[in-house]
Amino acid sequence: MTDLESTARALVAEGKGILAADESSGTIKKRFDSIGVESTEETRRAYRDLLFTTDGAEEFISGVILFDETIRQSSADGEPFPKLLDSKGIIPGIKVDLGAKPLALAPGETITEGLDGLRARLEDYRELGARFAKWRATYSIADDKPSEYCVWTNAHALARYAALCEEAGLVPIVEPEVLMDGTHTLEQSAKATGRVLQAVYVELHDQRVDFRRTLLKPNMVLSGYDATSRAGVEEVADATLDVLHRHVPAAVPGIVFLSGGQTDEDATAHLNAMNTHGPHPWQLSFSYGRALQAPALKAWAGKPENVEAAQRAYYHRAKMNSAARTGMYAPELEKEAVPA
Ligand code: 13P
Repeated sequence: MTDLESTARALVAEGKGILAADESSGTIKKRFDSIGVESTEETRRAYRDLLFTTDGAEEFISGVILFDETIRQSSADGEPFPKLLDSKGIIPGIKVDLGAKPLALAPGETITEGLDGLRARLEDYRELGARFAKWRATYSIADDKPSEYCVWTNAHALARYAALCEEAGLVPIVEPEVLMDGTHTLEQSAKATGRVLQAVYVELHDQRVDFRRTLLKPNMVLSGYDATSRAGVEEVADATLDVLHRHVPAAVPGIVFLSGGQTDEDATAHLNAMNTHGPHPWQLSFSYGRALQAPALKAWAGKPENVEAAQRAYYHRAKMNSAARTGMYAPELEKEAVPA
């Protein structure tokens, strides 16, 4: 097995998943605004420090995705974050796209940028300790969206990124996210997600990417957040599995879902339901941002005296999602959370 293959497999090791802590400066500011904390280089560092030094999180967390600023920052005792994570057996990763920008001549659709100079940036990140990378493309659902144009241009860019990662010795996490904002039905979500995944795997194959060295980070198939009637846990699990079985090659070692604005408990329950319907050709795991961090962020509120409570909240969510990896999660387990 190649190094990349073993890294990809380690990221989806039994009972473990990924923490996405790669919020860009704009996104982390939004998160901090919600708790009334100013976003400065130091508050961002302190918050990431709290997450990465949580005792025991490594039982449930295989890897952490960092942002460009964060991979260069250090813990309070001066230890660089990638080194700190590595010492706990957690694999450091890095977000390498430069964000979703308006797609020319396609009002309301986006193309993700960041390919220019990417080969050199990947080399730098590897030097800094990264072993895997992430690139996110986004698609909206509406009558005429996502357009074929948006689906194929983003698939092409995702494949160019993935090929460069394999060449640089980094496992590419391929993240096509069909956004769940809007009033669409579960069926519309399934159709859009299927079209997007189909294009992604055609481009990855055509651009010579070895699927065994990659991970997929998709959305779950959900009803739109503003839909009048929304699908329940079992329906979501069935619809998501149906799309994945149709479109994701068995050579892909793991599928690590994004949470995409679901409540943290919904994100856990959906993953759990899918894992009770196994076995599947790929590991089904998580790479959550908001669904792992929301309660910790709230408990912290920017105050040093709340660090322990925030760490307990993060540890608890990591543990719940770990249980969902094997279908062993039950809502009653939520009571185990030590109150902040
Ligand atoms: P969410 O789980 O909050 O959607 O974030 C995951 C992520 O990395 C989005 O790119």
